[in-house]
Amino acid sequence: MSKTLVISGATRGIGKAIAERFAKEGVDIAFTYNSNEEQANALAAQWQDQFGIKAKAYKLNILEPETYKELFKQIDEDFDRVDYFVSNAIISGRSVVGGFAPFMRLKPKGLNNIYTATVLAFVVGAQEAAKRMEKTGGGSIISLSSTGNLVYTPNYAGHGNSKNAVETMVKYAAAELGEKNIRVNAVSGGPIDTDALKAFPNYEEVKAEVEKRSPLNRMGQPEDLCGTVYFLATEEASWLTGQTIVIDGGTSFQ
Ligand SMILES: NC(=O)c1ccc[n+]([C@@H]2O[C@H](COP(=O)([O-])OP(=O)(O)OC[C@H]3O[C@@H](n4cnc5c(N)ncnc54)[C@H](OP(=O)(O)O)[C@@H]3O)[C@@H](O)[C@H]2O)c1
Repeated sequence: MSKTLVISGATRGIGKAIAERFAKEGVDIAFTYNSNEEQANALAAQWQDQFGIKAKAYKLNILEPETYKELFKQIDEDFDRVDYFVSNAIISGRSVVGGFAPFMRLKPKGLNNIYTATVLAFVVGAQEAAKRMEKTGGGSIISLSSTGNLVYTPNYAGHGNSKNAVETMVKYAAAELGEKNIRVNAVSGGPIDTDALKAFPNYEEVKAEVEKRSPLNRMGQPEDLCGTVYFLATEEASWLTGQTIVIDGGTSFQ
């Protein structure tokens, strides 16, 4: 029986690249979108055709983490099992006003939204995934993180703090889910060229700085994170849990 990945926010950017990597390996994909329904359904059809797997898109708003419960019930109707869960989706635009800002302009509401979308969504999604994984003897849970908690990044205090928090939550989940043969890890990326980064007001500056700072002299691409996320899902990583793996093109040490 083929295995199933549940991943949030796979319509574009890093989530899309990760879903494609798993699909290429023959894994069925249950993935979420928020606003891009048409794009999500087109991707599901494309992945089914291209990789001969089952793929289905579901709507999810990570600002309402409790709705993960209903989402997983829908996934139960369509897929036999859940083997991997990747918490990837991130909010942008209006919901991060007051959260994505210089320190003196931070506001509780924007900061809370980022915390909800990053940490609380991970918690509820991972709980629901773990309940299913337990039934089939184990699984692998991965949260996306970013090096904005290691390197000063203008306007990024809200995201950086929430990424710190989710990395700590990953360790607690790993400590408690290990006895069920469920491993939990985070993959922390340096700046990657996606819509989220293009939304930075100083995108061109960030890009130029990354290219200068990286010993590899280039910006990160969504595909740069996929190999590690896939590796964490495989038996090759069978004794790897509670860790954050940093993939930053060498930028954090400069
Ligand atoms: N880009 C970077 O530099 C970078 C670096 C390291 C780590 N990361 C992390 O990698 C992950 C993905 O980032 P990305 O750059 O690929 O993001 P992105 O290109 O902005 O894509 C965001 C995804 O999240 C979905 N989404 C947006 N708002 C949502 C909401 N309210 N509820 C549910 N889903 C929502 C979007 O769906 P729709 O298309 O349907 O709106 C989309 O699929 C994030 O956790 C981010 O922090 C990013």
